[in-house]
Amino acid sequence: MKEYICYCDEVTREDILEAIAQGARTLRDVKRMTGAMTHCDCKNKNPKGT
Ligand code: FES
Repeated sequence: MKEYICYCDEVTREDILEAIAQGARTLRDVKRMTGAMTHCDCKNKNPKGT
């Protein structure tokens, strides 16, 4: 089972670590390279509801 860090865009911890390995140095880099936090519907998709 995949462990999502960003549920809305189905971005996993491994996706984020891979982005860092490929040169991401800032949150903006990680967002751009993984697509995390671009289709926010957290109230419905994130189990935490936020
Ligand atoms: S969990 Fe990432 S934008 Fe909602």
